[in-house]
Amino acid sequence: MTQDELKQAVAVAAIHYVVDGEIIGVGTGSTANFFIDELAKIKHRIKGTVASSEATAARLRGHGIDVFDLNEVTSIAVYIDGADEITASGAMIKGGGAALTREKIVASVSGKFICIADGSKLVEVMGKFPLPVEVLPMARAAVMRKLTALGGQPKLRTMRTNAGSDQAFITDNGGEIIDVAGLAILDPVALEREINQVPGVIAVGLFALRGADVCLLGTGDGVKTLT
Ligand code: 5RP
Repeated sequence: MTQDELKQAVAVAAIHYVVDGEIIGVGTGSTANFFIDELAKIKHRIKGTVASSEATAARLRGHGIDVFDLNEVTSIAVYIDGADEITASGAMIKGGGAALTREKIVASVSGKFICIADGSKLVEVMGKFPLPVEVLPMARAAVMRKLTALGGQPKLRTMRTNAGSDQAFITDNGGEIIDVAGLAILDPVALEREINQVPGVIAVGLFALRGADVCLLGTGDGVKTLT
């Protein structure tokens, strides 16, 4: 099976976790996009959604699915999203799609976090995928020095402009993203706490303090459920 077929398979499997009549939190990225397309087929069964990015909100609305502002909502039954890396115990690296801050906020108010991922995302030790950290632009250099002191190799995420030059990638929140390579994350909870405390950090893409409750992993032998 191709990686896209594996993503499609876990998106279909995630529909079983959608709670009828409730608000569903929806993540960001290519796997989440497959899920959104599946959710569209049963949109009459849910009250609506809360989106973790502008891109996700646009895709949901494009399917005619209601998107609520998080401030209008008191509870979210379930949050469904992809990951860049996940361990068997449900700790994740997220933020490859730059939506880590809103993803973490929506996940934090959701009853359950269902991670959907193709099998390549399962790792024993996280850190091969550079860890995204969203920062206030004025704190960029200061935060990078702290991340270097923690043993990482921080790099500002950039994007190519139409004029052909590179400029800092700006998130939905007006933040910048620092991608930190070279970390072997042996204690994800401790590292998440440590990076959270660095002034200027908006959010770190480590989801260990609140990891996934269930991971639906797409493999050649079918969708495996890790809890
Ligand atoms: C976006 C994310 C995504 O969940 C993560 O990057 C995985 O993306 P994909 O499903 O495209 O592999 O955290 O910020």
